[in-house]
Amino acid sequence: MNIISKELKEENIKTKNIDDGNDKVHVELVGLSKKYGEHYAVKNLNLKIKKGSFTCLLGPSGCGKTTTLRMISGFVNPTEGDVIISGVSQKDIPPHKRSTSMVFQEYALFPHMTVRDNISYGLKLKRISEMELKKRVDYILEFMNLTSMADRFPKFLSGGQQQRVALARSLVMEPEVLLMDEPLSNLDAKLRVKLRSELKEIQQRLGITTIYVTHDQEEALSISDYIAILDEGILQQFDSPWELYFNPKNKFVADFVGLNNFIPVKVEKVEKNYIAVKVADKTLKVENRYLVSNIKENMILSIRPESIKLNPPEETDNLIKGRVKVHNFLGSVVRYWVDIGAGSQDIIVDDHDPYRKSILSGEVNLKFESFGIKLFD
Ligand SMILES: Nc1ncnc2c1ncn2[C@@H]1O[C@H](COP(=O)(O)OP(=O)(O)OP(=O)(O)O)[C@@H](O)[C@H]1O
Ligand SMILES: [Mg+2]
Repeated sequence: MNIISKELKEENIKTKNIDDGNDKVHVELVGLSKKYGEHYAVKNLNLKIKKGSFTCLLGPSGCGKTTTLRMISGFVNPTEGDVIISGVSQKDIPPHKRSTSMVFQEYALFPHMTVRDNISYGLKLKRISEMELKKRVDYILEFMNLTSMADRFPKFLSGGQQQRVALARSLVMEPEVLLMDEPLSNLDAKLRVKLRSELKEIQQRLGITTIYVTHDQEEALSISDYIAILDEGILQQFDSPWELYFNPKNKFVADFVGLNNFIPVKVEKVEKNYIAVKVADKTLKVENRYLVSNIKENMILSIRPESIKLNPPEETDNLIKGRVKVHNFLGSVVRYWVDIGAGSQDIIVDDHDPYRKSILSGEVNLKFESFGIKLFD
């Protein structure tokens, strides 16, 4: 294969590592694994979670999110590896002695206890004075807007209210680390969006280190400082939402976070500044931000629907002809499915040109913005 130009020397592209610096690390997972029989639910997970940050564990069903959270809380024993909280190994520390508190998906409220009693329950076990207990519970009831419901039983509360009680019950314990396993998944879509901003606001106000499990990528993107993406028990990427969206490290992340088009391409030429690839008999230029060793002759090109321009008015390169097959009018954007031939899947394009007067149909030109193109092995 002679696609790489002579002048091109291998250059190391430094990736930003949010694990850098040990000073503010609060929770550290070191080579953490859990094996059930021959199957790894979580495999060799290494993460450094900063103090006061909101971190999501995100991934498809069965990827090991709950298992990871339970190892942090102590309800599941790791097969290998360790959980370090504030520099202390948690190996011999049982769940109730850890500085963590867990909010479950099913709320797990005691049905025969009032809201106040549910919230007081954990504190009572701590044997603090009656007065101190009342003070802390009153404060958290007020803080969570639950004062007027203090004497109600859970079955007389809505799903969202029950969720707030479950959260209050955790917060009243003043944990250093708050663990939440899909706490909003039983609620309807509108309430979920409302409650997740409330959650984020409370978390920021308290500055509490939070580890939150979800399989909803939109939820994770909107709420997190950092996201760890897992697949089949293995960490795929640990980064800020922005980095994950714009600089996915592999095809799994590119596919799981947001919407992406994937097209098999042949690499024709590799220059210092760009890589020429063949798509449907057209040559496209891709910004070269790759290690030479990572470039193969056959690769997968990815581009997000918003990085493709439809019928650009100006003369431009990186144009591909296609035919509109289907469109969805979504208000702020029109989403098109465009056939570009050459055995490629239909290309999804999000068009939000405010000067467009009508829906496009028939033949169109697609401009693949060079900065939006990624190549994967
Ligand atoms: N107690 C157990 N015994 C055997 N296998 C288990 C046990 N708990 C979990 N697993 C397996 O470990 C893997 C990870 O499970 P886990 O519950 O952590 O997934 P998850 O990411 O939380 O999924 P979901 O989004 O569906 O809640 C799955 O394949 C699951 O079947
Ligand atoms: Mg789970």
